[in-house]
Amino acid sequence: MCGITGVCLIARSKPSNVALGEILTKSLKLLEYRGYDSVGISIIDNSKNLVVRKAKGKIDEVSKKLSFHALDGLVGIGHTRWATHGPPNDVNAHPHIDCAGRIAVVHNGIIRNYLDLKSMLQKRSHVFRSDTDTEVIAHLIEEFYKGNAKKGFYDAFKKAVTMLRGSYAIAVITTHEPNKIFFAKRESPLVLGFSKLGNLVASDIPALLDYTNTIMPLNDGEIGWISPSEVHVESIDAGEPVDVKKRAIAVSWKPEMAKKGGYPHYMIKEIYEQPVALKNTYEGLLSDDSAVKAAEILSAAKRIFITAAGTSYHAGLVTKYFLELLARTPIYTFVSSEYKHASLLAESGDVLIALSQSGETIDTLKAVRAFRARGAKTIAITNVLGSAIERESDLTVLTRAGPEIGVAATKTFTVQMLTGIYIAAYTALNRGKVDLSELKHIVMELGKAGKLVGESIVSSEEEIKRESEIISSARSVYFLGRGIGHFLALEAALKLKEIAYIHAESYPAGESKHGPIALVEKGFPVIFIVTSDSIEEIGSNIAEMKARGALIIAFVAGRLEKVDSSLLVTELPSTSKILEPFALTPPFQLLSYYTAVRLGRDPDKPRNLAKTVTVE
Ligand code: M6R
Repeated sequence: MCGITGVCLIARSKPSNVALGEILTKSLKLLEYRGYDSVGISIIDNSKNLVVRKAKGKIDEVSKKLSFHALDGLVGIGHTRWATHGPPNDVNAHPHIDCAGRIAVVHNGIIRNYLDLKSMLQKRSHVFRSDTDTEVIAHLIEEFYKGNAKKGFYDAFKKAVTMLRGSYAIAVITTHEPNKIFFAKRESPLVLGFSKLGNLVASDIPALLDYTNTIMPLNDGEIGWISPSEVHVESIDAGEPVDVKKRAIAVSWKPEMAKKGGYPHYMIKEIYEQPVALKNTYEGLLSDDSAVKAAEILSAAKRIFITAAGTSYHAGLVTKYFLELLARTPIYTFVSSEYKHASLLAESGDVLIALSQSGETIDTLKAVRAFRARGAKTIAITNVLGSAIERESDLTVLTRAGPEIGVAATKTFTVQMLTGIYIAAYTALNRGKVDLSELKHIVMELGKAGKLVGESIVSSEEEIKRESEIISSARSVYFLGRGIGHFLALEAALKLKEIAYIHAESYPAGESKHGPIALVEKGFPVIFIVTSDSIEEIGSNIAEMKARGALIIAFVAGRLEKVDSSLLVTELPSTSKILEPFALTPPFQLLSYYTAVRLGRDPDKPRNLAKTVTVE
């Protein structure tokens, strides 16, 4: 879940007024959402020495404190950390070096056999400085290189990588071969970028966009090196060289899409970007046939499963709801980290839909692999072309939200819902549950989702800002809803927990009477997410909560008869059932954002979290 980056610059193309340290810092800044416990860079300086600077803290503070901008050269690597092994401190910050200080390593993932390797290396007199699993990589390469330097550094690097168990995206520089970056990938993401300035490597596409749109995501088990003007990639098991030209792809994202663009935070920028993200995704669904193909596969499926994690799981639940409602077919859902049990049921004829913004979430990727291994087909719904889940699925339906940088998923949630409902509508047609004119109507309605989200933001934002004052002093909050309202309430509770650090839970509103209501006392905030078809029953649930002194907030698609003037009701543009999730989502996204800001939390970098979870 850390972010790694590496740059090999062509001497004559390198801008003379920009130091390598600045280029690495800029790229790390775009990866900061992957972890922000510590940061470090290492470069080969102009005298061919290895220089390492690293410390605990976020990029802005560390890069200033350690004067990253003063480091210059042509080859360097960088790392922003989400701690797994060893607490976040200066010593555990990457890059890690070997005993002689000639090899520097950055790593994302977990080396499971690091204790065995460490004790073997200690017996051979290697001295370790950190508590990390990563440090073994530097010493292991050193050990192999020492044993047979004439075979070259790449040979030692390959031998070391072969001994690693676990997950890794690794980038290595060394004074032994000062104009190259060596890399390897298994389970953690790694992408190469090819630009006029030179060659690059990074955990994720946004970090490359300032320099190139021509990229090559690496597959598991691939290893190689880049120099300023050469690229070598091979499969470590088969030893086969990879045809890089054939595998390179062009991405359409622009560098400014991954920047804040004047907004105080990525999260609010991405909430506001939803109308455009929905429009682009909708147009993409109309113009390529992947969603229609997905519906064909689903129509022929014996059983349909849906899996995802976090926010994507909630979009998966909305997809389940509409597949069941429109196509009248039962759907089995499971959170992807539970794939081991769920995949026991999978067999040929089944289909798994895997939703993932990043396309790299390890649990979701493992679910895809487990289902495929048992003969099931998999359909990915993802925002990242070339991501692992995209590459490993039988079919991908791409969402087109543009890069999402804020740790809290917002715009990718609404585009996932749009895509799920669109596929559900076509599946319903294939299954004879709706006719062509009904399908056309649904598709036309979905075309209005972007505009509706925009209207919902405008009509609710000021009210929500006021409500955030109440919520910011709460210790615990309930989000309740029925049907789709419950799935949205689950997402609302996740948002409030993850960025405002306020305990929040969600239940189907009717279920609250079976236990959770025991916690409700005077002033306890209960937030209802009310779809038009649940207004009547929710009215009773509101009365029950009110009778126990709860402080009620309601986001309503349509009109709610106020039983009491103390109710805080935000009425949203009324619309068709299909579109209600889009009207009801912005208020809770905004509520969590403004509450977090009021409490002085950084909504883009919530504590303990990373945007993409690439370790189990
Ligand atoms: O990239 P993915 O959609 O697979 O990520 C899944 C979750 O990690 C993600 O949705 C997470 O829950 C977000 N922080 C929610 O805002």
